[in-house]
Amino acid sequence: MRLLSIRLIVSLIAGITLVSLSSSYYEVLGEKRGMRQDLERRAEVLGESLAGNVERGLEKNSAQDLQSIVQHFGNREHLSGLAIYGRQGDLLAVTPELASTLATVPSAMSQALGENHGVGAFQRVADASLHIYALPLHQQDEVIGGLVIVHDAGYIRAESLRMWREAFRRALVHVFLIVLITLLIVRWSIAAPIARTAQWMRALRTGAASSPRHGADLDLFRPLVREVAAFAESLTQARSAAETEARLRDTGESQWTADRLAVHVRTRLDNARLFVVSNREPYMHMRRGKSVEVIVPPSGVVTAIEPVLRACDGTWIAHGNGDADLETVDAHDRLRVPPEDPRYTLRRVWLNKAEEEGYYYGFANEGIWPLCHIAHTRPIFRAEDWKYYQAVNLKFADALLEEMKDVEKPIVLVQDYHFALLPRLIKEKRPEARVAIFWHIPWPNPEAFDISPWRREVVDGLLGADLIGFHIQSHCNNFLHTVDRVVESRVDWEHFSVRRLDHLTLVRPFPISVDFTDVQLPESTPSSYVERSALLEALGVEATFMGVGVDRVDYTKGILERFLAIEHFLDKYPSYQGKFIFVQIGAPSRSHLKRYHDLMLEVEAEATRINGRFQTAKWKPIVFLNRQHNHEEIQRYYRAADFCLVTSLHDGMNLVAKEFVAARHDERGVLILSCFTGAAHELHDALQINPYDVDQTAEAIRTALEMEPEEKELRMQRMRKTVRERNVYRWAGTLIAELCELRMDASDEGKEKLRASSAAWE
Ligand code: G6P
Repeated sequence: MRLLSIRLIVSLIAGITLVSLSSSYYEVLGEKRGMRQDLERRAEVLGESLAGNVERGLEKNSAQDLQSIVQHFGNREHLSGLAIYGRQGDLLAVTPELASTLATVPSAMSQALGENHGVGAFQRVADASLHIYALPLHQQDEVIGGLVIVHDAGYIRAESLRMWREAFRRALVHVFLIVLITLLIVRWSIAAPIARTAQWMRALRTGAASSPRHGADLDLFRPLVREVAAFAESLTQARSAAETEARLRDTGESQWTADRLAVHVRTRLDNARLFVVSNREPYMHMRRGKSVEVIVPPSGVVTAIEPVLRACDGTWIAHGNGDADLETVDAHDRLRVPPEDPRYTLRRVWLNKAEEEGYYYGFANEGIWPLCHIAHTRPIFRAEDWKYYQAVNLKFADALLEEMKDVEKPIVLVQDYHFALLPRLIKEKRPEARVAIFWHIPWPNPEAFDISPWRREVVDGLLGADLIGFHIQSHCNNFLHTVDRVVESRVDWEHFSVRRLDHLTLVRPFPISVDFTDVQLPESTPSSYVERSALLEALGVEATFMGVGVDRVDYTKGILERFLAIEHFLDKYPSYQGKFIFVQIGAPSRSHLKRYHDLMLEVEAEATRINGRFQTAKWKPIVFLNRQHNHEEIQRYYRAADFCLVTSLHDGMNLVAKEFVAARHDERGVLILSCFTGAAHELHDALQINPYDVDQTAEAIRTALEMEPEEKELRMQRMRKTVRERNVYRWAGTLIAELCELRMDASDEGKEKLRASSAAWE
């Protein structure tokens, strides 16, 4: 830094001096030229005004007149004197002080007499700087002599010298001030932030800090700060992964981590590439005024798949439905994501309005969704929607086949009920591809499934897969019973497989989960009490106890039942009135469908009705936040709440329950969990409830609020152990391992039959 300062100072001194002096040089030159021109002009004017008088004196031949003229004008400003010469250059009169200077006829005079016009010249005579102006005098156009006007031009030089002195002084002051200011700027805005950043990076390197440093005082280096922050993040993650690995080795546990999954998948895939297909994309680009914002949509599938793709790169094919999605892809409809730290490829598929309407809103969400969730909303099956469902499955199959074109032995993970037909379509074209489909929602009992007019085609499409995954065993059982009932096949209950047309499909439970990161929270993370006060203050309410619910506003989530339970709780235990608040984060979902649109209104109306019964000036029992919240916002509510309430009427897994457990690093907080969720099969230390039983839920709320801290801690520790061990990496790892270990032994004859059968219903 010292060397830099010396270099900087020397360069500044040289630069400023050069610039300042060259500008002074031109200034002085101009000034000097101006003064000389001014002097010349004055001499000419004086000459012209005196000429008449002198000519008359010459005419009269009066030496006395001439002498009095020269003496009279001898004392003007800068005028040294006058001299009058006769026609032959003989000196007739001269100001006495000039007599010695003009001992000889000045050359200007001779020239003026010879050329018959005024001549001026600057001359140095005996160390004096003079301006001599000579002009001819006339009598009736005849030259009868000359007048010489001599000015002292020494003041011009004196003035130039003064200006140079001034210029040097100014340059000196400039150099001093600019060097001083520059050094202060360097010290405050560059050297100090760099020193602090270096200190922070040292702390990172030695493990004394983990979170990225606030970059406000490094504004100048924003791109650098971004890179360093990303670097710090990766370093923290790498360190945490290494620590986890070391801890696991030490305790002999075999926990799944992102790194283990990456290694595992690379080994299993044997350089094969991973492809994921889902309807919902992980990143949507949305236009907000003139800028484009990136949004992560609320979806269990996105929550689960994102860490897998991050860990092992690959391609995720999904519907691009953000209004700025088209602008953000390349010529092949691809982009690398996550946008801030690209790790894998997202390939977007475009759907027109009619396709989206029929396939997504219609068949998937008005047909299959209510069919598979026993939540007492009647499925709607339209032939038109079914046609679009088939067409869109085909469209995604084309996109996937295009992505896999040059890939040997691809591994395909199809996600969810939007793509029941995709496994068969893919296997028909690429029989050697290993294809799994994971069904993220429940599979109902065969009687319930039977009402679907296209049950055979849906089941047949799924059976194209090599592996079908559900969250829990009972969904696998329901599926196998359905297969047995609707298609010709051989169901093997011992191995949980189906052989149809010589193709073998395994059916297995893989309980999905979340990314459980066991890292130390930054020291700046507030305690749950401080966090709660801050959140409630921002909401403009006061309360001592807080519960939280986080859901898409969907009729399967039991939000109305939850509100009724809260109302019942406050009626039954009035001492909690004014003290207990429930914050419901409700992300709007599928609101284009009437059922969802109406539900949002119902939920809002119910919250208003219950609040109306109890609310006071600064308190109300339910705060309903009906907008999408990002991951960080939701984490704050999870960390601040006394309990999290999950009341799904039917749910494949419910990742909110696991997210809440993963967020409670403080090992506090109680989970109240519907027994109709997949999560209830794993989280035995949650307070399990039947959401239809309003009194039971109200009792669970009371139990949660009054539970001894030791018990809360014990329960939370056990649930955290479960989620830590059965995290999303384990889910993906076991799913991929199972898929990779399958024997791909379908006979050619069987494959032919497979093709023929799928062509039949296309
Ligand atoms: C469930 C489904 C997902 C779906 C999510 C959000 O979790 O299993 O496939 O993405 O709901 O619903 P949406 O219709 O908004 O994608």
